[in-house]
Amino acid sequence: MDDGNNESSDLTGSRPRRIAIITAGGDAPGMNAAIRAVVRSATVAGIEVIGFRRGYEGLIRDLAEPLGSRSVANVIQRGGTFLETSRSVEFRTPAARGLAARNLKRHQIEALIVVGGEGSMIGATIFGAETGIPVFVIPASIDNDIPGTDYSIGFDTAVNTALDAIDRIRDTAFAYERVFCVEVMGRDSGFIALAVALGAGAKAVVVPEIPFNLDDICDRVEDSHRRGKRSTIVVVSEGPRTGGVIPVAEALTARLHMQARVVVIGHVQRGGAPTARDRLLASRMGAGAVKAILDGAVPSLIGEERGAIVCVPLGEAVNRRRLLDPLLIDLVHQLST
Ligand code: F6P
Repeated sequence: MDDGNNESSDLTGSRPRRIAIITAGGDAPGMNAAIRAVVRSATVAGIEVIGFRRGYEGLIRDLAEPLGSRSVANVIQRGGTFLETSRSVEFRTPAARGLAARNLKRHQIEALIVVGGEGSMIGATIFGAETGIPVFVIPASIDNDIPGTDYSIGFDTAVNTALDAIDRIRDTAFAYERVFCVEVMGRDSGFIALAVALGAGAKAVVVPEIPFNLDDICDRVEDSHRRGKRSTIVVVSEGPRTGGVIPVAEALTARLHMQARVVVIGHVQRGGAPTARDRLLASRMGAGAVKAILDGAVPSLIGEERGAIVCVPLGEAVNRRRLLDPLLIDLVHQLST
């Protein structure tokens, strides 16, 4: 599976008769494309697929519905997830996980595919270890913070959506010679902010993982204004760890004696049609998950590393961390002089 050239399955070997799929945690554009790829790959291999609505909640409450090839028609281009999702607090209890396992067994499910983020992967790992049900995770989160994969489904779309918004902001910023502070998603992770800052030509970027200094940001913006820069964009990750966009805008307003404008892009980044890159990634990962099941792989995350689809055992993936490259923050500064 890891040579990148053999991602379709030969459909041989012992195969389960029925598997289940859920989407869990924050939705991400491309989740529907992943469900479609799982259902169609499984169907071709003669495996039935049962979808459970509303993520782990649906396993607990038995919100099951059979999915066939026609159930996933006309979904590849749609954002959100037609299976719906949730962040289940109840699933954190052993009693609820026991109930979920009993429901899966009653439906004669032989493997579970979870399409979701890091929290969903941790839940999947605990659930699989407790119950012995083989669980496979397809990484989907706009945050791109899931260990075991270079890219998660939805990140590319979210970054492009934010860039489209900032390109529009740049037009009016330039016309009026203004400073805009733009808040993007990612309360615990700065991958979106960093990619957006680089792609938008921002003056500075604030991320949760790396300490920042408001005076330093003000110095940079003031200096470039003095040197004739007509428009300035500062990108800030949302959430308590950065404090969000408002304190940054207030500091800049005080220093520059002009009102720094604030734009919060928010959940707009989570919706919309997935980009070509996300559709492709979701399709390859969905097919990869079914192939892993057919191959009898240990419970794994189906990731993309250096362009190839790989299976990373869940026990290993949960112990890895995805770290931001601080040099990219220096690059934001270097390229916005
Ligand atoms: O799904 C990830 C994410 O969109 C983060 O980027 C964001 O910080 C968080 O979820 C927002 O969560 P909620 O949708 O619950 O407000």
